Amino acid sequence: MKKATQYIHAGAHPDPSTGAIMTPIYQTSTYVQEAPGVNKGFEYARSQNPTRQALEEALAVIEEGKFGLAFGSGVAATDAVMKLLKPGDEVIAASDMYGGTYRLFSKIYSKFGIVFHYVDMGAVDNIETKINANTKLIWAETPTNPLMNIADIRGIAAVAQQHKVLLCVDNTFASPALQNPLSLGADIVMHSATKYLGGHSDVIQGCLVMNDEALRDQLYFIQKSTGAVPGPQDCFLVLRGIKTLHVRMQRHCENGEQVAAYLRQHPKVEKVYWCGFTDHHNHDIAKKQMRGFGGMMSFVLKDDSVAAATKVLSSTKIFSLAESLGGVESLINHPASMTHASIPREQRIANGLADGLIRLSVGIEDAEDIIADLAQAIG
Ligand SMILES: Cc1ncc(COP(=O)(O)O)c(C=O)c1O
Repeated sequence: MKKATQYIHAGAHPDPSTGAIMTPIYQTSTYVQEAPGVNKGFEYARSQNPTRQALEEALAVIEEGKFGLAFGSGVAATDAVMKLLKPGDEVIAASDMYGGTYRLFSKIYSKFGIVFHYVDMGAVDNIETKINANTKLIWAETPTNPLMNIADIRGIAAVAQQHKVLLCVDNTFASPALQNPLSLGADIVMHSATKYLGGHSDVIQGCLVMNDEALRDQLYFIQKSTGAVPGPQDCFLVLRGIKTLHVRMQRHCENGEQVAAYLRQHPKVEKVYWCGFTDHHNHDIAKKQMRGFGGMMSFVLKDDSVAAATKVLSSTKIFSLAESLGGVESLINHPASMTHASIPREQRIANGLADGLIRLSVGIEDAEDIIADLAQAIG
């Protein structure tokens, strides 16, 4: 099946009892058994739920993997991967990834004796030099949030395989519609399904997709043992979101391209971060591993003061000032004080995340309206 067909039909089976075309929301905590151990494959809803099962099947299909696992949030999905590790294990992670991932690693897992090395993943060599006998995991995010840096998934996967280290890729920004890390050699794909997969800013959810059955079993064991599972209604919403992912993503890409081009020529804009520009430092890699460049971008004004950025952030009418991204509506965000506030300022600045940086999640409204809104806000 071609992608567009897969997105509509993945995980969808008419309900056996009624024929309902949409997967029912199985709002139940438990399942009646005929005799101890004699059941229909469902025992307790932390371990199994039919709505979640349909979603997990769909997630595997759209990420070109064999197994999907859904979690109560993106961070919970990341947390499950970290629970594969033990004290003394080392992780190589991107220096400019999502602030919440950095917070989980540096504030929670480092307390348990996991050692983190944060590197610029724009060059594969930066990763290889940090690998030692204790390295168990490479955590990549590409494009990165919010600077749109690109990591070469195929190149990193080759290094990971050579050193028998797991590679997990946070694919939230690209979504499976634009990039499939498993097919490029990654072991695990992680998503904040809150974003493009859900697509309508109405659900918090995360997921992992993988090919290796033993790895799936380990992660399933962690999922049911630690319990960060999503509710069935949330699974239904993400299943529904997936059906239109490819169409939404197409429009995000078209609008993103127009907005990036507009901002770039604006006399008050100093720099636009968007991986679709041919002079983006890793554009060639982005072009090879992505099917489009999406609607996420960041920019800084020539007046790089926080006051100037705040004026723009407070003046938009179509863009709502809010955390999150990937919904149908356009959002504007100030990473330094919002999504990335948990990263110490010196580290943020060293990684290139300026105090005045503004991040956009370009929605699927009319591109002319979106651009007119930015024009009046920037002035
Ligand atoms: C790239 C990325 N990864 C992970 C997360 C965490 O996901 P969640 O907010 O669903 O826990 C986010 C949230 O913004 C994100 O942007």
